[in-house]
Amino acid sequence: MANVTVIGAQWGDEGKGKIVDWLASRADAVVRFQGGHNAGHTLVVGNQTYKLSLLPSGIVRGTLSIIGNGVVLDPWHFRDEVAKLTGQGVAITPDNLQIADNCSLILPFHRDLDGLREDVSEFKIGTTRRGIGPAYEDKVGRRAIRVCDLAHLDDLDPQIDRLCAHHDALRAGFDQPPIDRKRLKDDLTEIAPHILPFAKPVWHTLNQVKSDRKRFLFEGAQGMLLDVDHGTYPFVTSSNTVGGAASAGSGLGPAATGYVLGIVKAYTTRVGAGPFPTELEDEIGQKLGERGHEFGTVTGRKRRCGWFDAVLVRKAAAVSGISGIALTKLDVLDGFEQLRICVGYRLGDKTIDYFPSHAAEQAAVEPIYEDFDGWSESTEGARRWADLPAQAIKYIQRVQELIECPVALVSTSPEREDTILVTDPFSD
Ligand code: GDP
Ligand code: IMO
Ligand code: MG
Repeated sequence: MANVTVIGAQWGDEGKGKIVDWLASRADAVVRFQGGHNAGHTLVVGNQTYKLSLLPSGIVRGTLSIIGNGVVLDPWHFRDEVAKLTGQGVAITPDNLQIADNCSLILPFHRDLDGLREDVSEFKIGTTRRGIGPAYEDKVGRRAIRVCDLAHLDDLDPQIDRLCAHHDALRAGFDQPPIDRKRLKDDLTEIAPHILPFAKPVWHTLNQVKSDRKRFLFEGAQGMLLDVDHGTYPFVTSSNTVGGAASAGSGLGPAATGYVLGIVKAYTTRVGAGPFPTELEDEIGQKLGERGHEFGTVTGRKRRCGWFDAVLVRKAAAVSGISGIALTKLDVLDGFEQLRICVGYRLGDKTIDYFPSHAAEQAAVEPIYEDFDGWSESTEGARRWADLPAQAIKYIQRVQELIECPVALVSTSPEREDTILVTDPFSD
């Protein structure tokens, strides 16, 4: 059985959506396993652009799409995203979209708390303000309301009370009024019929699909450097974004992960606060942002840009067990006279070849660069390896050497078909 797990290998926005969409034609199910609507995955098909945050990218092709238990689900956002895509002509029914009935819900006060913390505190993560962190806190705190609870609203009062008591104490610290329990119950009663038709024990569906020897495509959100354990803590999201999370977040055993395809941008971007060793706050960073249209899909914020950091991606490859990478946005580097790749760091008077764990050291490392001549030819839209300029091939080859991982795909524009296949992840 050849399954593929797509994950981000930097700080998110590497082009996961485009690659998942490209691979989805040959998958029997596409599965989201962590994160929530903090993600923003963009697909360009002909003259249509689709922006998905919560729904698996496979839905655009009509492939069976599954929101796994590891996702935190905002039911109102779910309803709106389904309506938006339906308006774009995507057919969405309980036959092609399922939600794990054991998913935890993001509720309105999670979003409030996320925003309050960002506004009031001196310490800012720069979250998407969508309630992701607070919802995961309630999940591991064992007080969350889950999708399956929506089918038992008559029994929900004690659970609502317990959850609200916890939040009322937090809200009081921010001078916020207590949660209106009746309104919350009414809101849940109103939204439940929009969710329940899609709610299934998806671990069961997936294991059924597995026994039919079909192919799964797992769609990660965010990126390894935003992983709550392995990322630039505390400037991270609240879930595990590494490949290993696909198993726990969907209800399949670890072997199902299959080929782990790391999505890697040919340079580096980050949205939100936190360390970024190769960040360029000059006209080169500006040019990368303009050529790459680096604005957040979810919040519209300008993404910070910098050179490719091979040390970070080598770590991503190691902690996620990446089998091969898709190198995206190569075309954005067209026309740069000189390119740089970070190959190590200076930390005080030491030279190190790995990213340290401590936040202050992560902020203090200084990149050591290797310089390359750029290429003046256009790679935009290239679909064959042979169409790439020699200098671009040299750059890709050095990337694979430094990250100790082969390049399986190269992406040369936002468009679905502008993709070079080097090794087929499904049959490797
Ligand atoms: P994701 O979060 O990893 O799915 O990535 P996003 O969709 O947030 O951001 C990637 C952006 O780059 C989107 O606007 C894509 O349409 C675009 N994109 C993807 N691959 C390429 C590529 O190879 N070249 C260019 N120029 N744009 C790309
Ligand atoms: P995709 O799937 C880029 C960042 C936020 C913030 C941090 C925590 O499109 O790659 P959160 O709202 O999750 O608590 O915010 O994580 N972040 C992302 N950055 N791409 C994403 O998703 C992101 N999802 C969250 O900007 O720094
Ligand atoms: Mg994105």
